[in-house]
Amino acid sequence: MGKIVDKFSDTAEVVIYGGSCYDFVKTIPDQSITLIITSPPYNIGKKYEEKSSLSEYYHKQEEIIDECVRILADNGSICWQIGNFVESSEIIPLDIFLYPIFQKHGLKLRNRIVWQFGHGLHASKRFSGRYETILWFTKTDSYIFNLDAVRVPQKYPQKKHFKGPKAGELSCNPLGKNPSDIWDIPNVKNNHVEKTIHPCQFPIELVERLVLALTNEKDTVFDPFLGVGSTSVAAIKNKRRGIGCEIKEEYYAIAVERTKLAMNGKLKTRPMNKPVYDPENPKITLEYEWKIASIQADLFSKQFAYGVAK
Ligand SMILES: C[S@@+](CC[C@H](N)C(=O)[O-])C[C@H]1O[C@@H](n2cnc3c(N)ncnc32)[C@H](O)[C@@H]1O
Repeated sequence: MGKIVDKFSDTAEVVIYGGSCYDFVKTIPDQSITLIITSPPYNIGKKYEEKSSLSEYYHKQEEIIDECVRILADNGSICWQIGNFVESSEIIPLDIFLYPIFQKHGLKLRNRIVWQFGHGLHASKRFSGRYETILWFTKTDSYIFNLDAVRVPQKYPQKKHFKGPKAGELSCNPLGKNPSDIWDIPNVKNNHVEKTIHPCQFPIELVERLVLALTNEKDTVFDPFLGVGSTSVAAIKNKRRGIGCEIKEEYYAIAVERTKLAMNGKLKTRPMNKPVYDPENPKITLEYEWKIASIQADLFSKQFAYGVAK
């Protein structure tokens, strides 16, 4: 098993730096990272951030994004996961606000993924917010995109053409369907198996989908705002290398601990594509889960047969 080091290395399985990404990123060579995925502070006064003016926030984000573009490989991707800045009851969507920084570098926006989830604050003067977005940019037109690795079960996998020259043949892709740009993945709240003390950690399955689709085995994934290590866990679980920085000691310690558990195959995570629990219909959820599990098993065996899964 590899070990976790705290200085940039192009051979280590995992690098976790306990300090500011603004310092660490300068030690990463040009074009050495295949995927950068992060959820930066939103400047909303969470306990791990100091609220600053929007203009200061913009320039600080610009500083780290400029560096991320420098270290990104030509076939690589940047995924910036972000929500809203809220001031005096007005919301400012940070992805729209930050978009010009990526545009300035000529990056190409491939998807604006909507991540929807069921839990959050209850608003009284507007509709409760139940989604955030992920801006997925690439540096060039020849970027890695392994769609087959992240296909999800078809709703009707056995559906066949009933007439014409293809009558009797499957009418949908036997490897599953494209997961689309709307992702229904539970956010990590108290009853979630991955919950730590961090107030807004990534669900690992969300990072895994990006890691599998946008990198190949042994590629390097970097998260400048690592929190409790969800990105390094998702990288290691899928045979990629993980690099990250976390400035708060207590989160850094958890990131190291969770990544070690993942390296030993002992970290409990919510499985990818597990259906979302429906409290109105727990029995149906359970039956659906069984159905999806068997469809997923079938899908994997087909992916093996086609040489997609290893
Ligand atoms: C939105 S959270 C990210 C959580 C992460 N995605 C996870 O799954 O745990 C942002 C994190 O960035 C950290 N942070 C803030 N400024 C930082 C900096 N300059 N360098 C590194 N980490 C920083 C915060 O302490 C916080 O844990």
